Amino acid sequence: MKNETVEILMNRRSVRTYSERKIEEQEKQVLFDCAMRAPTAGNMMLYSMIEVSDQKIKDQLAVTCDNQPFIAKAPLVVLFVADYQRMFDFYKACGADAWAESGGKTFRRPQEGDLFLAINDALIAAQTMVNAAELLGIGACYIGDIMENYETHSAMFRLPEYTFPITLVCFGYPKTDGLSGQVPRYEEKFVRFENSYKRFDAAELTHLMDRLEAWQHNGKPHEYDEGNIGCYQYRRKFDADFTKEMSRSVRAALKKWNN
Ligand SMILES: Cc1cc2nc3c(=O)[nH]c(=O)nc-3n(C[C@H](O)[C@H](O)[C@H](O)COP(=O)(O)O)c2cc1C
Repeated sequence: MKNETVEILMNRRSVRTYSERKIEEQEKQVLFDCAMRAPTAGNMMLYSMIEVSDQKIKDQLAVTCDNQPFIAKAPLVVLFVADYQRMFDFYKACGADAWAESGGKTFRRPQEGDLFLAINDALIAAQTMVNAAELLGIGACYIGDIMENYETHSAMFRLPEYTFPITLVCFGYPKTDGLSGQVPRYEEKFVRFENSYKRFDAAELTHLMDRLEAWQHNGKPHEYDEGNIGCYQYRRKFDADFTKEMSRSVRAALKKWNN
């Protein structure tokens, strides 16, 4: 099946080097309009989008998001905030607290389930913006490290208690297209199931990263200091300082949500 939009989505890759070309106001508006048309739980729009236009803040983020200098050079940086604060404030503004109490009920505060729902909303809006950008020829890269340093980031953006900075996205026209090509994914059999979840045995799992390994080392055998690609990944992506900071940071945010 041939379809131009599908082809663009299939050719997508993260873009971390940006050309001088500005993202015009009109294009920016299209990105935000598309994000706001994304599906949203109960049509509640449990997210906020903060455009980071101040270069000083971009420079700071390039440090606080695990030292990634390209953030400072991105023409458009958008913070997606999982946001239950606005709805909670709205309920109070409408007197829902007094209404609940008059009926003998405790006025409920946002809890973990509400946070997860808001995270869904924020990420769906973010990915809709990323797809819209892709269709306009604008590249994007997520920055998951925004979930670290909760105290610093919530102070930087004056985030109230019932919010969480769930993702940051850098946008810009790509400096050179193509670059090193697309990063391969796992074989579909590892991620696509029917009717029930499938767990894999050790023999099958040793092939999980075959494609990635072949791509990284041009199909040649590679000696890892850690012994194999699994131990290498464990060290780099799982037992790294940034992952521990991310968990600490999320815990601090949850503590605030839960008072
Ligand atoms: C939740 C999430 C967090 C990410 N965080 C970062 C990041 O902090 N820095 C970065 O350079 N890329 C980040 N990425 C981009 C991934 O590294 C990238 O999507 C992945 O390597 C696959 O490459 P591709 O997008 O080019 O296909 C993130 C992507 C996602 C979905």
